[in-house]
Amino acid sequence: MALTRIGLAGLAVMGQNLALNIAEKGFPISVYNRTTSKVDETVQRAKVEGNLPVYGFHDPASFVSSIQKPRVVIMLVKAGAPVDQTIATLAAHLEQGDCIIDGGNEWYENTERREKAMEEHGLLYLGMGVSGGEEGARNGPSLMPGGSFEAYKYIEDILLKVAAQVPDSGPCVTYIGKGGSGNFVKMVHNGIEYGDMQLIAEAYDVLKSVGKLTNSELQQVFSEWNKGELLSFLIEITADIFGIKDEQGEGYLVDKVLDKTGMKGTGKWTVQQAAELSVAAPTIEASLDSRFLSGLKDERVEASKIFQGDYSTGLPVDKAQLIEDVRQALYASKICSYAQGMNIIKAKSSEKGWGLNLGELARIWKGGCIIRAIFLDRIKKAYDRNPNLANLLVDPEFAQEIMDRQAAWRRVVCLAINNGVSTPGMSASLAYFDSYRRDRLPANLVQAQRDYFGAHTYERVDMSGSYHTEWFKIARNSKI
Ligand SMILES: NC(=O)c1ccc[n+]([C@@H]2O[C@H](COP(=O)([O-])OP(=O)(O)OC[C@H]3O[C@@H](n4cnc5c(N)ncnc54)[C@H](OP(=O)(O)O)[C@@H]3O)[C@@H](O)[C@H]2O)c1
Repeated sequence: MALTRIGLAGLAVMGQNLALNIAEKGFPISVYNRTTSKVDETVQRAKVEGNLPVYGFHDPASFVSSIQKPRVVIMLVKAGAPVDQTIATLAAHLEQGDCIIDGGNEWYENTERREKAMEEHGLLYLGMGVSGGEEGARNGPSLMPGGSFEAYKYIEDILLKVAAQVPDSGPCVTYIGKGGSGNFVKMVHNGIEYGDMQLIAEAYDVLKSVGKLTNSELQQVFSEWNKGELLSFLIEITADIFGIKDEQGEGYLVDKVLDKTGMKGTGKWTVQQAAELSVAAPTIEASLDSRFLSGLKDERVEASKIFQGDYSTGLPVDKAQLIEDVRQALYASKICSYAQGMNIIKAKSSEKGWGLNLGELARIWKGGCIIRAIFLDRIKKAYDRNPNLANLLVDPEFAQEIMDRQAAWRRVVCLAINNGVSTPGMSASLAYFDSYRRDRLPANLVQAQRDYFGAHTYERVDMSGSYHTEWFKIARNSKI
């Protein structure tokens, strides 16, 4: 057998599909998995899906030696300890100049630690975010490789072909930057994904609970929205979901799905990083909190018995107006959510000296990944116009779009509040906008309180310097 161009270790959902994708693009690939039945399964799939050049190995030594030098192995195993174990297994057979790529959702600092450790053995290392789930991995994901540039250049030809292809903007891959930047960007992508999903769920809730739309009406509305500025993968699949009947009973499947959202951790990391970097990310945080609250199903059922009663205003709702308002509120909220995600990346990039190109990130998210959307084109253009944009909100085009949608956005949030329907994401986005756009916030009072009880000092609007006032003494004396 001739040597293969690349290897892939870890053949669960993502690995198996990515291996087939790579082979289909004309790159012979060796595959390996700890549990060998998955190797045979993958080779069998490769036969069925067009005799693709996939070669299976049951032991790491023959797997590694089947790859042409310098060898490149993509790992797609569970993040954390399994990655370290797989590296140890592979590294025993790799030689100087070879490269390992971790394609999992790994914590970026683990990637930086491993890159250093690999360097000591003369091995190159990349941490590559892969987005798009099973379908993306098989037919074209969005790829976010970070780490050794030398390693990236060596496999660039493969990545350019394997990634999703967007007609007007090219393959959805770019060299992200040094260190763990690829994993970090993928993590924030997932945080943004949390925000998008939450905002869509709130749009659904308002339309269903206040507007009384049926599933088939919701399907029509979301299909219609998917023809305009909201066009995106998530809106498209949401429309599909509303149309699917329950095969095991009456009605629609969506109504039978338990209202408890799972998660694997990248959204939580995003929120933790936002806090570490002192970047406000209230929409993404609200989406995470909503998942936590959804998990309290039993408590919520009990609480619903305590707080019984009809919270609806009972006022008639103009359905057509509501649908249009919710569409605009969703779009405006989404702008705020992406502004927050981009600001997290920007802050980390300057902290670490990564020099990340935000416009380029928007470009590679236009296809393949879960947050792919036509709207990302506007984000790319905004950063092309001004790479140092302080906030997406102040880009002239986005600023105008927000202004145009403000009235509808406020109507939707007020309507939801008045009807007892929670819209934490939309409300958080609106509060973010309302805080960001004001030249004076009540922070003066908070700072005065801090100085009162903790002598933390304050600055003045009319004089420079740092001040402290004996608030307590003055207040006590004035009471006598
Ligand atoms: N699923 C998705 O939609 C998706 C999307 C984007 C990114 N990701 C990320 O991509 C990576 C792979 O995801 P996945 O869903 O395909 O698989 P997964 O369920 O996260 O992991 C299963 C794979 O890890 C291997 N593994 C687990 N523990 C191991 C150990 N101690 N030593 C060696 N191998 C070990 C398994 O081998 P055995 O078969 O021997 O158990 C199997 O190949 C993860 O980091 C995931 O977060 C997933």
